[in-house]
Amino acid sequence: MATDAMAADAMPRFPDGFLWGVSTSAHQIEGAAGLRAPSVWDVFTAEPGRVRDGSTAAVACDHYHRYREDVALLAGLGVDAYRFSVSWPRVDSPGGLDFYDRLVDEVCAAGVRPVPTLFHWDLPVGLDWLERDTAARFAEYVSVVAERLGDRVGKWITLNEPAEHTLLGHALGTHAPGRTLLFDALPAAHHQLLAHGLAVRALRAAGATDVGIANSHGPTWPASDAPADREAADFYDLLLNRLFADPVLTGRYPEGLGELMPGSAGGVEADLEIISEPLDWYGVNYYAPARVGAPQGAGIEFGGVTLPAGLPFSVRAIEGRPLTDFGWPVVPEGLAGVLPGFRDRYGDRLPPVVVTENGCAYEGLDDRDRIAYHDGHVRALHRAVEAGVDVRGYFVWSLLDNFEWAEGYGRRFGLVHVDFTTLERTPKASYGWFRDLVAGQR
Ligand code: FCB
Repeated sequence: MATDAMAADAMPRFPDGFLWGVSTSAHQIEGAAGLRAPSVWDVFTAEPGRVRDGSTAAVACDHYHRYREDVALLAGLGVDAYRFSVSWPRVDSPGGLDFYDRLVDEVCAAGVRPVPTLFHWDLPVGLDWLERDTAARFAEYVSVVAERLGDRVGKWITLNEPAEHTLLGHALGTHAPGRTLLFDALPAAHHQLLAHGLAVRALRAAGATDVGIANSHGPTWPASDAPADREAADFYDLLLNRLFADPVLTGRYPEGLGELMPGSAGGVEADLEIISEPLDWYGVNYYAPARVGAPQGAGIEFGGVTLPAGLPFSVRAIEGRPLTDFGWPVVPEGLAGVLPGFRDRYGDRLPPVVVTENGCAYEGLDDRDRIAYHDGHVRALHRAVEAGVDVRGYFVWSLLDNFEWAEGYGRRFGLVHVDFTTLERTPKASYGWFRDLVAGQR
């Protein structure tokens, strides 16, 4: 890829105070599953055929026991911030919160800002996002975490990608909890959004002043100009880019969902007031655009997922772009494109944006493709800054190779290689590249 051109072309400077960071999530790295209550992901991965390589996250990177080594890797990168997630089932277990206490102390001692996500898909067994009460339970858990860590944590993230958790976990069944409800999954979306709003209130009550959410976004490209393709693409765009952003940023669900939307029968107005509690910043996870057209029948592979028949759209391959090992196309300008679009749509309602995830799966320690991917995306992000979007940070997904959900250990997103037999950590070429980028921005 374009590594020579990259080296020749200095990275432009980002505004002062811009946060450079890396992201992880609890279920994907912690292991020590026996030291916490089970989550829906433990149940899901125990079922045959759910995970491509048949693995589970029982040990994963064993970060629970090796967090000091991992924080030393963060320190070596010189990043400003570390985005990790707090496992709700661990907090529900005796001594579980003590782990996050130790972790936050270690991160702070390394001169790095801890940025916890309060829900990254590992729901305690027994809870269910189809139940409204789960939102209230989430807020209670958030209060407990905020009370314990709030003296050292300034920046909080309520939820990670409720869109994927709804779509993959509740509509298509390729992620935990493995439901295949299609549009009947929408109550899970509403209850997660309500949980987000209640969590913002709980965090504020605990004194937090720097609260955001991490939603996934990417441009939707119509497969052609044909009206049927455009219409299908608009609907897909509504599901991915608006269903979880409009209520948070405007206090309204997007038009076009009609009776599909739960709560349309009544009571939703009061919920929307909670869901749209003002945020201090808005997190965007960006990986790739989607090319979408009219329905084509069953059997279309999309990011490892086979979409069922009966959906009002089909996801098509994007041709002519390099693909990551996951088969995702590499399209940096998608990031530069999606952010100004956001600013135009939400205007003053859009708080400063932070890119809370961006990354790619590649094998190997000399991972020049990963360097090219991030280099291209960081430059695209800078173009968005130049276009007037108030962007305040960029977090690489991920610090470590980890348990990539239904893909198991076969997709390596880390700046640091993990040998899943010995658990040895080895920084890749991309680790050195990111360290130099961050140093160059000082
Ligand atoms: C995102 C998830 C993250 C990781 C990356 C590759 O959708 O938030 O946990 O799996 O994709």
